This record gives sequence, structure tokens and C-alpha cells, in this order.
Amino acid sequence: MTVPMTAGSQAAGDYVLKVEKLGKVYGGAIALRDVSLAIRRGTIHGLLGENGAGKSTLVGLISGQRQPSSGTIYLNDVPLAHSDVQKMEEAGVFLVTQEPMIIDHLSAAENLMLGIWPRRFGFVNWRKLRADAARMLAGTGIDGAMRAGALDAVARRKLNILRAMFSGGKVIILDEPTAALTVEDRKQLFDFMRRLKADGVTFIFISHYNDEILDICDAVSVLRDGALAGGSEDVGSLTSAQLSELVLGRGLVLFQRERRSFATDTPAVELRDIVGPSVRVPALDLRPGEVVGFTGLPGAGAKELARCIFGLTPVESGTIRFADGSATQDLPTSPRDAFASGIAFLSDDRRRDGAIGQMSIGANISLSSLTSVARSGFLSKEAELALSQRYFDAMGIKAPSAEVAVDTLSGGNQQKVCLGRVLATEPRVLILDEPTRGIDVGVKQDVLRIVDELSRTGVAVIIVSTDTDEITRAVDRVCIFENGTIARELTGSEITNDRLRGLEPS
Ligand SMILES: Nc1ncnc2c1ncn2[C@@H]1O[C@H](COP(=O)(O)OP(=O)(O)OP(=O)(O)O)[C@@H](O)[C@H]1O
Ligand SMILES: [Mg+2]
Repeated sequence: MTVPMTAGSQAAGDYVLKVEKLGKVYGGAIALRDVSLAIRRGTIHGLLGENGAGKSTLVGLISGQRQPSSGTIYLNDVPLAHSDVQKMEEAGVFLVTQEPMIIDHLSAAENLMLGIWPRRFGFVNWRKLRADAARMLAGTGIDGAMRAGALDAVARRKLNILRAMFSGGKVIILDEPTAALTVEDRKQLFDFMRRLKADGVTFIFISHYNDEILDICDAVSVLRDGALAGGSEDVGSLTSAQLSELVLGRGLVLFQRERRSFATDTPAVELRDIVGPSVRVPALDLRPGEVVGFTGLPGAGAKELARCIFGLTPVESGTIRFADGSATQDLPTSPRDAFASGIAFLSDDRRRDGAIGQMSIGANISLSSLTSVARSGFLSKEAELALSQRYFDAMGIKAPSAEVAVDTLSGGNQQKVCLGRVLATEPRVLILDEPTRGIDVGVKQDVLRIVDELSRTGVAVIIVSTDTDEITRAVDRVCIFENGTIARELTGSEITNDRLRGLEPS
């Protein structure tokens, strides 16, 4: 089950890329130590590991984004000296980073062709640029003329992936490419990858989703605490449980909420007559302690309703009534209002609405709570520290202390900070949009467990998710959205993966 770490007896030409004893140190911290591995030409090679294991660091070195502290990278058996992104792209190695890299003031089409602009006599051939871009963007739902800054998170991510796909690159590295994609986008991406693979393109593919790894990868390598911890050259023979075990070094116990029926309980919140830009929901009740899943195709209303409830999207009408005896009110008109009435929200766009990179983990966690405490009294410095420490520990954030800047954390650990910040506000209604996106298989169980425990204190929770497995394991009731409204609800034993994926009629 282990990958030969060096070429061994294989013909040298079999491997497009090799790294030997690669290391990276940040200040005093070792992010990567003595990693040696070889990637076979024309394969899709999965790179796995827990949050903070060193995956992004490794591909950052390979793509020339950062310089290794030690070790050598070989491309087609030629050792690369000091390199940078431009040189690596010229050599045919493209990296699609974990967070979309987009130049906001350029158009979508220009972003797509960035650095790979077709040239004629040294000039940019704008006509060809636009024509090529239009062809690439056809069917993706992205308007090439649009300013990239105006695109949503999913479109920005797609743009980055498309750029790599059309680059003519020989080695394409995708760092959690599917984290914001829909099932349909994902399928398109995988079809695309298979086509390019047949033409001899090699992929390095990072993902926390076992089903994706099993679906698309030929071989995998696993990192743990910055070192190579194993791998497989025969992914097809592995089960999902075996894959988790490879990653964690131990068996994984999947969390499953004990579903309850809340149907006869007095609602904690009554939402009525919500009419927004693309939602129309006559009535929705949330009971104290209930966890409700919102799911459906993009644009069907799940995400849209959540954003209306939190005051992020203005509505034409809609009321909310809390069970505390207070009067029926209009829906909040701003997140500030929503927050003041005890509603907390985790956005799916970590880059835009998420953590503040330069600030410490602790400051980020207590950030929203400071405003909440300011309402009722004050928060002493000690209480603030205690609060951030509590959630730092509870979320299992991988960092030397809560004092370090969020910028220095791995992607999944940044997501944990965002989640910790929302939980620390101790809301009455908690809305989580894709809460475990980018989070590793082990921590995902912890997150679902924390939400479960929180619900037992009487908080009503909404989880917006396209991850059917997550919905199945975390909620009491699912609202399935179609055409802007709740088309169906499933409760208790009706909630199954197959039914949510539409494989089984409900
Ligand atoms: N600029 C930096 N300064 C200090 N430490 C860093 C920096 N960048 C990364 N690290 C550390 O290097 C380690 C590996 O991080 P990396 O981003 O490679 O993890 P990852 O495997 O990609 O995780 P994830 O699944 O969460 O994306 C982490 O402990 C991280 O905190
Ligand atoms: Mg990463």
C-alpha cells in the first residue's frame, strides 16, 4: 500500500515530477520536513492530510510560489534551481491555489488569460483573446466582459480552474478545487481532468473529500505533521474508511446525531411571508434545540433564504417572531440588526466575510462577541481572553497559540477560526453556510459534534450545505429548496444520502 518514494527501478521518464528531501521552515516552525515523492506522468495524484499537514506548503514550493528551505525539485529529471511562479508556468506547471487569485479590476476574460495571453509579434492580440475567452467561458455561466471583482465566490474559483485547464500546462496542481463547486461543476471539472489526463497532462489533486479521491485519483500520498506518512498506488482498491485511516493514522468514528422530532414543540422562531429577490417562503418555524438542514441546487433558495434571515439580502416582506414574548418584527435589514436580535451567521466566503488575516486568532474569535457584550455590559480583558481560549481549544486550531496571526494558518484552520468566532457569540439562532468546507475528515466530526452540543442548550441551528453526507449526519429535519421555496421536507429516517442526492424518490 505504500508508494515507492524514489524512482527506484522505474525508467526515469515515467515520472514528470520528483521532490527529494524537501523542507520548509517558517520562523522556528517546520511546515514540511524531508518530503520525497515522485509523480507519475499522465496520472492524477491525490495529496492528502489533515488541516495544517503541509499540503499547500508542498505545492507552493513545487509551483515556485515559495522557496524551499532544503531539498530539490526535479521536473522531467532536471533539478530546478531557485524558481518563481512565472518560470514554473513557462515550464508548464500551474497551481490553482486554495483561495481564488483574481485581479478584481480586470475583466473575467482578461483574468482567464492572465500570463497566457496570446501574443502576435510581441503584442497582445485582443481579438483572439476575447474570442478564445468567450469559447472557454461558454456554458460556465460567467460573462467574460464582467469585471472580475463583481463575480461571486464560485465564479472566481471556476475562473482560476479554467485558467489552469486552458493553459496548456503539463502539470496542473489543484488545491481543494471543489471546495466551492456544485455537484454539476464538480462533474464538469472531473470530466475535464480525465480528458486532459488522456492527453498526457499530470494532476496533483488536493481534497478532503474521500469520494472525490476515490473517484478521480490513480495514486495518493499522505502528509502528516509536515512529513510523508504513506500513500497508495492503487487507490481503486481502497475503501473510504481505509482512506480516512491513511490520513489520520487511526480509525475514524463518524458522527451521527440522534435525530429527534420537534414537531409538537413551541417554536423558538417563527418566520412568515418572506419574499426576497429569489425566495418566497410563506412559513418556517424553528424549534429550540432543533438542527435544520437547508439544501438544494445553487440558486434554488437555500443560501438565499439564509442570507435574508441574517439581513444580508434585502427582502420585500417578511417577519420574524421570537418565542420570548416579544412582538412580531420585520426581518432584520442588516447583519448588525440580525446580530443584535441574537442571530449569528457563518458565511461561505471566508475571504470576504471571514477572518481578518493580520489579527491574532484570539482577537478574531472575540471580535463579534465584543459587540454582543457591548450591548449588555462590558467584557473584561480576562473574560475576552478566556472566551477566545475556550474556542481556540474547542475548535482544535492548529497553531502555537491563540496569539499568532490568522494569516499564518492553513486554510482549514482559518475556517475553524471563523466558526469559533460565530459560536463564541452564543446566539439564539445560528446559521452556518457550508460550515465544514475545507475542514479535514477528523475535525469535521468535531465540528458536527460541537454544533450538536450547542443545539442541546436550546439554540436553533440552520445548516446550509450541499454536502449530503454532512446533512444526513447532522440534522433533525431537511428543507429541500426548489425555485426559491421549500419544495419538500424530510425528517427522521426519511433523511438518507440517496434520497438527498435524488437517487431515490421521497
Ligand atoms: N506564512 C506562514 N507562516 C508561518 N507558518 C505557516 C505559514 N504558512 C503555513 N504555515 C504553517 O505551515 C503548516 C502547514 O500549512 P499548510 O497550509 O501547508 O497546510 P495544509 O495541509 O494545506 O492544510 P489545510 O488542509 O488546512 O489547507 C501549518 O502549521 C501552518 O500554520
Ligand atoms: Mg491547504
